Amino acid sequence: MTSPEGSASMTPLLDVRDLQIELVTAHGVVRAVDGVSFTVGRGETVTLIGESGSGKSTTAMGVLGLLPEGLAVLSGSVRIGGRDVVADPGAARAVRGRTVSLIPQDPMTALSPVHTVGRQLGDAIRLRHPGLSRAQARDKGIDLLGQVRITRPETRWKAYPHQFSGGMLQRILIAIALAGDPELLVADEPTSALDATVQASVLDLLMELQERTGIGMLMITHDLGVARLVSDRIHVMKDGRFVESGPAERIVDKPAEPYTRALLAAVPRLGAWDEDETAVPGAAT
Ligand SMILES: Nc1ncnc2c1ncn2[C@@H]1O[C@H](COP(=O)(O)OP(=O)(O)O)[C@@H](O)[C@H]1O
Ligand SMILES: [Mg+2]
Repeated sequence: MTSPEGSASMTPLLDVRDLQIELVTAHGVVRAVDGVSFTVGRGETVTLIGESGSGKSTTAMGVLGLLPEGLAVLSGSVRIGGRDVVADPGAARAVRGRTVSLIPQDPMTALSPVHTVGRQLGDAIRLRHPGLSRAQARDKGIDLLGQVRITRPETRWKAYPHQFSGGMLQRILIAIALAGDPELLVADEPTSALDATVQASVLDLLMELQERTGIGMLMITHDLGVARLVSDRIHVMKDGRFVESGPAERIVDKPAEPYTRALLAAVPRLGAWDEDETAVPGAAT
């Protein structure tokens, strides 16, 4: 594929320009996202950080084309793999689960309790790869479970969600997100439902996965410690806008905006949660 701007490898995986999202709510129309622009390239992690209600999830759901039709009005552009999912909702369906995939926030409720994890992972794989037989999908699924560090995946294939811990469920959801071999992962607070030690291991897994595959990541968090650990760039969000953007170290070490400084002051640093300081291996600098 060629474009007038340059070669395809220069094109970011995700290119968001002047995105605005209005939500129709019971209390009227809310402008949840008010003109944000950012990119995510191959192998990059870009983080949106901000307090609750600042518009992070709405931005993510808009990027994924997952906002309810008729209740959300989008303008601007969101290019994924060169296709604008704002201008063409069909493109959103085409790229979702394939080019771009979501890691949901709460692992305890994201899976169906009445089906085995193997069934749910196998279904996700066959949805993305309709040519595979059940046995081939199972082979791929067991390989994916191994990649997300589930031990004895052959045995675990037949287990139900309630037989796993929260951290293991989140790793299974990461495997499901990987079912379509995406180039970009959107992770909306992927570890905030987990305790600190488990949170560290899931973040570590995501970073290892990224190093190995070059996958791009749009990370959402309200925790600057998490943001600093995983991000190349950080955008600080408030009231639907970016108040400050820059390289992760600069934002954390020399925040320019009072709002960012307030976020830093309000959020405990990674590693400070556990009195015994074992919470986050590798986080200390
Ligand atoms: N389903 C909804 N109904 C009404 N308002 C919503 C809904 N979802 C989001 N909002 C509003 O949109 C704004 C942004 O919310 P959200 O994107 O969820 O923020 P964040 O993820 O940063 O916590 C908030 O003002 C919130 O009240
Ligand atoms: Mg949110």
